Amino acid sequence: MSAAGELRALSPTDHAIETACQALAAGELVGVPTETVYGLAANALDAAAVQKIFAAKGRPSNNPLIVHVADLQALRSVVRWPLEPETQRRFDAIKDLWPGPLTIVLPRCETLPDEVTAGLATVAVRIPDHPVMQRLLRRSGLPLAAPSANRSKYISPTTAQHVVDGLGDRVRVVLDGGPCEIGVESTIVALEPQPRLLRPGGISAETLASRWGVAVESLLPAEAAAMVLEAPGMMLQHYSPQTPLLFADAIDQLPAGRVGRIAFAPLDASEQSRFEVVRVLSEDGDLQPVAQHLFAVMRELDGLQLDAIVADTCPTTGVGRAIMDRLKRAAARE
Ligand code: TXA
Ligand code: MG
Repeated sequence: MSAAGELRALSPTDHAIETACQALAAGELVGVPTETVYGLAANALDAAAVQKIFAAKGRPSNNPLIVHVADLQALRSVVRWPLEPETQRRFDAIKDLWPGPLTIVLPRCETLPDEVTAGLATVAVRIPDHPVMQRLLRRSGLPLAAPSANRSKYISPTTAQHVVDGLGDRVRVVLDGGPCEIGVESTIVALEPQPRLLRPGGISAETLASRWGVAVESLLPAEAAAMVLEAPGMMLQHYSPQTPLLFADAIDQLPAGRVGRIAFAPLDASEQSRFEVVRVLSEDGDLQPVAQHLFAVMRELDGLQLDAIVADTCPTTGVGRAIMDRLKRAAARE
């Protein structure tokens, strides 16, 4: 921390990685970059350190954490092997998507603290694809439990500054790995008793379905409520700006007052002029840049004291499924 006691994100020099390793070994929290969103990391084998994550985020203790490891070898300290033959086959069909934005729910190792898994018999694991996070995992030699580094229910962070803004007084170090490239969280899948999608994310449902040779629909819950039950963190209201968020295709007229617009493609001049501020997330309609910038723009517009934010919608295929999942939760009011 600086002399003034004010936390700043550290550029990821060897010295900064070493500082982060020492903090983790001492049971402290570290803000870490990944390719999806920034994480709030603790040593997954240290129950007291893991409890600090829940306290810092204001996260309910029944919402389990994702454990990050450097490679397949390092999975052995958190997953119970051997897998059932059918589970192993399903795992083998997707494991080359790692390192990447994919989280797989597997049977847990008994030695893992209950705090990590919220007492479940399974653990969610991920090998992240970010050079700074990989260096940290290898240098520390620890499995790292890390949820997104935001206060519970607020918008996930995609820059180191977002982490400092939201949790700066609660972490020892934030490593700055630059803006996240994927921009939405990892896809979460369960493999037993049959493969299914628990959260849409950076790896598409279509990719997973083709790996398993099944229809996309077979991976989805019959009703949306099922997802909330199975992955306990999937509450309906999440990613929530303070400002009300509405969908452009669901309103007949603009709300009164100062309205911001999140557009997925350029708007024509007359449409543009109806809004106080417009952010265009993609120049050509490609949805990957929309995912990449969505959370940062939601945070930015939420800081402008607008009366409402109006967002575009997109088809729920490819990364569009994750984009619409996050936007619907952001628009929900309990
Ligand atoms: O991209 C990501 O996955 C980011 C980065 C930091 O890796 N992490 C992340 O963590 O999004 P978090 O805590 O925000 O979301 C974790 C989700 C929650 O919805 C939780 O319920 C689910 O994973 N989860 C964790 N363990 C589980 C388990 N054993 N079974 C089912 N769902 C689980
Ligand atoms: Mg989260």
